This record gives sequence, C-alpha cells and structure tokens, in this order.
Amino acid sequence: MKTVQDYIRTIPDFPHEGIMFRDVTTLFADPRGFRMAIDQLLHPYAGQPIDRVVGLEARGFILGGAIAHQLSVGFVPIRKKGKLPAKCIEQAYTLEYGEAIVEIHDDALKPGERVLMVDDLLATGGTAEAGIKLIERLGAQVTGCAFVIDLPELGGRAKLEALGMDVHALCA
Ligand code: PRP
Ligand code: ADE
Repeated sequence: MKTVQDYIRTIPDFPHEGIMFRDVTTLFADPRGFRMAIDQLLHPYAGQPIDRVVGLEARGFILGGAIAHQLSVGFVPIRKKGKLPAKCIEQAYTLEYGEAIVEIHDDALKPGERVLMVDDLLATGGTAEAGIKLIERLGAQVTGCAFVIDLPELGGRAKLEALGMDVHALCA
C-alpha cells in the first residue's frame, strides 16, 4: 500500500541551486494519493469545531479547498501581496528561498472564528507564522496548522509550536 510520501517527488536545485524542492503536483494528480492526503490531514480534527479553512498560496488553496468542502465550511485565501481585490491587511516574512508579503481581506474572518490553516509544506515556518499573525490580527483563532510535508531541520515546526500552535504533518 502506497503512502502519501510515495506520491511526492523531489526536484533538486529548484527554484535555486541547493534547494531540494518537494513537488506535490504528482500527489494532487493521483486520485488515491489526493484523497489519502485530504483524509489524513483532516483526521486529527474529527469532532473539533472548525468555522473556516484558511489556505496559503498557492498549493494550500488546492488542499484547503478540498478540506473546506469536506468539512462544509467556508474557505479563505491568504495571498501574496497585490492579488486580492478588496481591502487587506498585510504581513511581511522570510522563507527558505526569499522574502515576501502576504495579505488577507480585512473582512474575511470574524472575531472568535476557529480556523484550520492549511499548506503543502512547512520549512522555515515564515509563511505559516505570517498566516497565523494575519488570522489572529482579525480576531480569529488558529485551531490547527496542517501540512502535507514538514522539513523539521528548517525549524518551522519548532517556531510554530513555540507560538502554542498544534502542528500536524503527514510526512518529512
Ligand atoms: C512554499 C510552500 C509554503 C512555503 C514554506 O510556497 O508552499 O507556502 O514555501 O516555506 P517556509 O516554511 O520557509 O515559509 P512558496 O513561497 O514557494 O509559494 P508558492 O506556493 O506561491 O509557489
Ligand atoms: N517551500 C520552502 N521550501 C520548500 C521546498 N524545499 N520544497 C517545496 N516548497 C518549499
């Protein structure tokens, strides 16, 4: 029986020399693999109240949309700066191979809403930390952070756990 990890390939030197890029397009393209990933991402949250799923651009949208549909809750995107059309709040961050700014619509979440935040991969945790800050700045709370891949040697899990986050990942 194949595991989620078996569907993921690693591309050396993308997008820069020295980066071992984990490519989840092969996981998403396989119906068994994709369903397995969605089911396993959801597993720890069974029975927990979740009001919204927030997905981080870009691969978090694919996972987050499927998870939101499964939970019958709404989906909210966090996007790279300049992509969302209405009024936003923004947060700068650094990641494994650069710096960026992410945004969320300032009316996307209501105070007190319980959010499951989803992305494909946790590396330095810079992107996820920026996402958590945006969610919390809108008064919502992060119930869990779910990733397909955790690269623990890059420190992301430790960073999020130090913020008191529950981190769930399917493979390293
Ligand atoms: C990747 C990945 C995460 C982030 C993780 O996205 O999908 O969002 O990097 O890295 P970090 O833990 O060091 O912050 P990327 O920034 O490449 O954006 P993309 O999905 O829009 O290509
Ligand atoms: N984001 C940051 N580091 C990454 C990696 N090694 N593979 C895929 N996405 C990433």
